[in-house]
Amino acid sequence: MDLHAADLGTHVSRRTVLRLAGLGALTAGVAACSNGNGHDHGMGMGSSDTTRPSTDLPGAGSDFAQPAELVSKDGRLEVTLEAAPYMVPWNGGTRYALAYNGMVPGPTLRARPGDTIVITLRNGLDQPTNLHTHGLHVSPEGTSDNIFHMIDPGASLTYEYVLSKDHVSGTFWYHPHHHGFVAAQVSGGLAGAIVIEDELDDLPTISATTERLLVLSDPRLGADASVLSVSTSEQQNGREGDAALVNGVYQPMIMAEAGTVERWRIVNASASRYYRLRLSSGSLTQIASDHGRFTEPVSVDTLLLTPGQRAEVLVPLAEEGVITLSTEAVARGMGMAGMGGMGGGDLSPAADLLLVHVMGTKAPPPLPTALRAAGPLDTIEPDSERRVSFGAMGMGNGEFVIDGKAFAGDRVDISADLDTVEDWVITNNSMMPHPFHLHVWPFRVIDRSDGSTPDPGWRDTVNIPTGQSVRIRIPFRDYGGTTVYHCHILDHEDLGMMGVIDVR
Ligand code: C2O
Ligand code: CU
Ligand code: CU
Repeated sequence: MDLHAADLGTHVSRRTVLRLAGLGALTAGVAACSNGNGHDHGMGMGSSDTTRPSTDLPGAGSDFAQPAELVSKDGRLEVTLEAAPYMVPWNGGTRYALAYNGMVPGPTLRARPGDTIVITLRNGLDQPTNLHTHGLHVSPEGTSDNIFHMIDPGASLTYEYVLSKDHVSGTFWYHPHHHGFVAAQVSGGLAGAIVIEDELDDLPTISATTERLLVLSDPRLGADASVLSVSTSEQQNGREGDAALVNGVYQPMIMAEAGTVERWRIVNASASRYYRLRLSSGSLTQIASDHGRFTEPVSVDTLLLTPGQRAEVLVPLAEEGVITLSTEAVARGMGMAGMGGMGGGDLSPAADLLLVHVMGTKAPPPLPTALRAAGPLDTIEPDSERRVSFGAMGMGNGEFVIDGKAFAGDRVDISADLDTVEDWVITNNSMMPHPFHLHVWPFRVIDRSDGSTPDPGWRDTVNIPTGQSVRIRIPFRDYGGTTVYHCHILDHEDLGMMGVIDVR
């Protein structure tokens, strides 16, 4: 997977294609496991897709594919990305998408702590765009992760991101961030993964696994730009698309051998859709969330992934058969009390996402028991506390505000001191859950008003359920500057649910 950056201009769409003898014999098993909920996609509240026939969807079980990778060399990764409309392969034909270099998802950028990533972004769209490196702990100033730049149609801008030597390893991603256009551009297909590797990836129990990237998206399916426009109510709910895809493919299948361990880096690149992931058999062993590895693995039956969040999981394969990765319904609709219910606002419906066909029967090697030693930041205490309120008590447009205010790029909403640690108690008084996201500075989730267990790792995005509050702890360290925090239901961000933070 060592595709050099210089090759990018040739629009390489190399894909990992796994073909194995005996594929035909699988058909029965595959059909059986996707009948349950694979075609539940048409039930989104207020969605215009209810009249679209499910025959738009291809059958399950096409080849698992991954985006091309661009890997840093001698401490540097230099790439050119062009954002432009593109017809991408779909169900034997094509569908309309917005793509980086013609690829959905965009190419994966792979680098190491201490590297410099240089990205020249060319805007081939008919609307403004820009670039954000979601989750990277880098400067928000100059031409680093500065989302206040705007790139006009036809123009380009070169960004330069300097990763410190102690930047954590993990799964991050890039996407547009020009206020007002973010949901349409990301759901249109403009998103790609960034993988930072360090010596944790060399742990024998990690390096022996089969690493794969799973970028989850749910585009609207169609032949022209109308897939990008949504109604006011769809925007207020947060748009969801016609099908949940893995790396742009509908219900792909991985062919794998028993006795191996799959390691999946999962990115929720959907504009609004929540996923609650589970396997048809066995649990998921989570080793990382948004920002770096846990100290030790955590075994979970289900894994909630809000828009923007990432997870890295291990799946040991022992027995012949088909394992399905699916998402349960997450009732995140307006007016739902909490996230557990199945009735009512049925946004984020259940769906099968990925099939793993396991060949043979053989015990897999043991999973890691420890990943890294706890560092001083893991137990750091706060210097001060701040309260942040997501959504107003009122209805209508008042819903999409933070601390009663809609986004204004020229107004600083929160000033914080560099080299201090703040606790933020974020409350959600609105009618639906919102995923809170802060740029540049990762945080710990300390506690939740519902008493549920705090998260084991570092995050940059956390779900704030309706009527609840979550306490996060943020060390403002290394970089000062002005950037944003917002709801990562990107339609809500576009509607104004974003604030400006200045740290110095
Ligand atoms: Cu993934 Cu401010 O965004
Ligand atoms: Cu971000
Ligand atoms: Cu929101």
